[in-house]
Amino acid sequence: MKTPIDIAVTGAAGQISYSLLFRLASGELFGLDQPIVLRLLEITPALHRLHGVQMELNDCAYPLLQKVILTDDAKVAFKDVDYAFLVGARPRGPGMKRKDLLECNAAIFAEQGKALNEVAHQHVKVLITGNPANTNALITQMNAPDLSPSCFSAMSMLDHNRAIFQLAKKCGVRSKEVKNIIVWGNHSETQYPDLTHATVKGLEALTLVDQTWIKDEFIPTVQNRGASVIEERGGLSSAASAANAAICQMRSWVFGTEVSSWSDWISMAVISDGSYGVEKGLFYSFPVKVSSAGELSIVQDLELDAFSKACIKESALELKEERKAIKHLL
Ligand code: NAD
Ligand code: LMR
Repeated sequence: MKTPIDIAVTGAAGQISYSLLFRLASGELFGLDQPIVLRLLEITPALHRLHGVQMELNDCAYPLLQKVILTDDAKVAFKDVDYAFLVGARPRGPGMKRKDLLECNAAIFAEQGKALNEVAHQHVKVLITGNPANTNALITQMNAPDLSPSCFSAMSMLDHNRAIFQLAKKCGVRSKEVKNIIVWGNHSETQYPDLTHATVKGLEALTLVDQTWIKDEFIPTVQNRGASVIEERGGLSSAASAANAAICQMRSWVFGTEVSSWSDWISMAVISDGSYGVEKGLFYSFPVKVSSAGELSIVQDLELDAFSKACIKESALELKEERKAIKHLL
């Protein structure tokens, strides 16, 4: 039997976690021979609700779930963890922008960055989902100076999966036939879902769909999908699809994109090294490859037309604005 791995999940009594925890406990991410310990963090008033979730986890009698720890102390939650899903944060409601959440959510990530720095494993993988995810990732990383910046990523996998589905639907194929989509930038309305390098059943996507559809339907649909889900779900934001994306992104990060993805890369928000003119230090979604040894790299030298360059720049500008708003936390 393998040694159990410790996984922290914050916001563990919330909507996303209600899907995520059960999928983790079933072995879907780390495999059917890998025991796990779940270290679940909530704010004190939500510990009761979290206890209810623990009762349900117990009632599944998952063979791989060795232990469930409930806590309202980040240092207990992150103690020696190898993986951390930072989900806990307020979600937006109808009519709000994700960056409207900066004020109420940013401080959470400063505190959690410090706690990770103090008690997590040196090679912990921290996936930030709570919104606004890219800037929260920046706050977390900047508050954890002893951990490598490569320990942190923000979630763009939901946008990536949304883009795959839209193109697959348009072309009448299964999602698996769509490869090499890129979502660039912020997890916000300025994100740029890019079909320039995408293929469908081996054919270039740009030969199958026209520019009008791309600019008037595809891009705005993906950019605004989160808001559309909130409208349709009566004010609740996406949860099961977000949990799914968190599992997909972490799987590629842990096991490598070659094994875990059917594309040459995935879209993942990582710290910029200046690639494609994006200022160093911003958490920005790029096409990313991860080797089976776990080495992460931003795919280089993709050709970009003037429209793509402008979109990439616009999203970087928005991230710089967000960074300015929380500079006291960095
Ligand atoms: P939710 O309100 O159902 O759950 C959030 C949970 O976080 C609550 O139980 C709350 O008590 C807890 N929480 C608040 N502060 C905390 C803290 N300091 N420590 C630990 N827990 C804390 O929300 P949800 O639907 O699960 O969404 C969570 C976050 O994820 C939101 O910010 C949402 O906007 C974001 N989200 C991001 C993506 C993405 O693609 N990046 C997708 C969907 C949702
Ligand atoms: C999403 O994209 O569904 C999430 O970021 C939730 C939201 O606020 O849109």
